[in-house]
Amino acid sequence: MSAITYGDHTKDVEDLEVTKFTVPSAVESNQILLKTLATPINPSDLLLIRGVYGAFPPKVKLSETDPVVHVAGNEGVFEVTKVGKNIKGYSEGDWVILTSGRLGTWRTHVLVDYPEGGPEPLFKVKSAGEGGLKKIEGATLSVNPPTAYQLVHNYVKDWNSDGKDWIVQNAGGSHVAQFLTQFARLLNVNVLSVIRGGKPNHDEIVSELKSLGATAVITEEQAQSEQFRNNELKSIFNGGNVRLAINCLGGASATALFLMLSPDGAMVTYGALTNDPITYPSRWQQYNNLTTHGYFLTGNTKRNPQSKIDTLNAVIKLYKSGKLQVPPATLLEFKDGNLLDLYLQVIKSGKKGIVKYESN
Ligand SMILES: NC(=O)c1ccc[n+]([C@@H]2O[C@H](COP(=O)([O-])OP(=O)(O)OC[C@H]3O[C@@H](n4cnc5c(N)ncnc54)[C@H](OP(=O)(O)O)[C@@H]3O)[C@@H](O)[C@H]2O)c1
Repeated sequence: MSAITYGDHTKDVEDLEVTKFTVPSAVESNQILLKTLATPINPSDLLLIRGVYGAFPPKVKLSETDPVVHVAGNEGVFEVTKVGKNIKGYSEGDWVILTSGRLGTWRTHVLVDYPEGGPEPLFKVKSAGEGGLKKIEGATLSVNPPTAYQLVHNYVKDWNSDGKDWIVQNAGGSHVAQFLTQFARLLNVNVLSVIRGGKPNHDEIVSELKSLGATAVITEEQAQSEQFRNNELKSIFNGGNVRLAINCLGGASATALFLMLSPDGAMVTYGALTNDPITYPSRWQQYNNLTTHGYFLTGNTKRNPQSKIDTLNAVIKLYKSGKLQVPPATLLEFKDGNLLDLYLQVIKSGKKGIVKYESN
């Protein structure tokens, strides 16, 4: 069986390797064996491999007999195949996700240790035989939907359902933004999504984002133009209340969002894709009583583990009721052959991808 692994001196995806390992035929009393159903490729997976987050997570064991390695990937959905006799609450056929991305997910199987009295390593997303959740929904459940859900729900607690409240966000085509749009629309909150202009398929992107629920989609160039903000944007908002600005980029893009906020609004930063610092006029903040926040899902979960569980349950409920959909992504299937080739195909395309493990 295969895992995509990296070494202590890895600097980029070219250094990734395939490590073969033996899947145990039986598990210890405190172990669960999982087979992988699907995993996505997220920007943060690549940032981690490129060393942007500093130290790599600890090496993990692929099986009892193979050497420990770093395994790539942070998210995925798995099916339980063997349950140690001391472990309660899981059966063969249950679908689970890992509560920590530190085990690495880009691999055909995961052997999970249940340390006595330690933190729960798994979260059950679906019991054996139960329907209502697709592989691609489970695969992408741990990071982007909870982030988007908490961004909508953590900073404004009293959204008005009269259709006059607004959220403005940059990187409007990102998966987080597309989930956020859907959560906001369920509350009847309007969304203005700002995207990079100049793409040949611009109109298609705009209509896809609108079909997910975006009220309006504008380009960075428009958002950063004072003239556009003072004229066209005012008619788009039509007297509405811009209560939340969601920033994933920094720099001039974040400044533009900040300047769109209505009095008492808040800007939340959850990404820094341009690496540029954020500046805004102090008086604008002072007179309008604007606040700024940083958002980090991992930090929130460490401080309050139950908050992630509650959020996941809310997201799963929306999937099961058909009110939420995974934004478009390239779907690839691993049947046999080289697992790494498949991941590199997605990574090099620069597109969002999900690998389904059809061999499992
Ligand atoms: N704080 C947290 O806890 C948390 C949790 C989850 C995700 N995140 C962060 O959220 C971000 C989005 O994640 P995702 O999985 O949703 O990403 P994604 O689907 O891959 O989308 C990335 C988006 O960023 C845009 N973008 C990238 N560089 C840009 C630039 N220099 N200027 C303008 N737009 C740019 C891309 O625009 P184009 O379409 O034009 O290329 C694309 O729409 C990542 O930075 C991720 O690390 C943070």
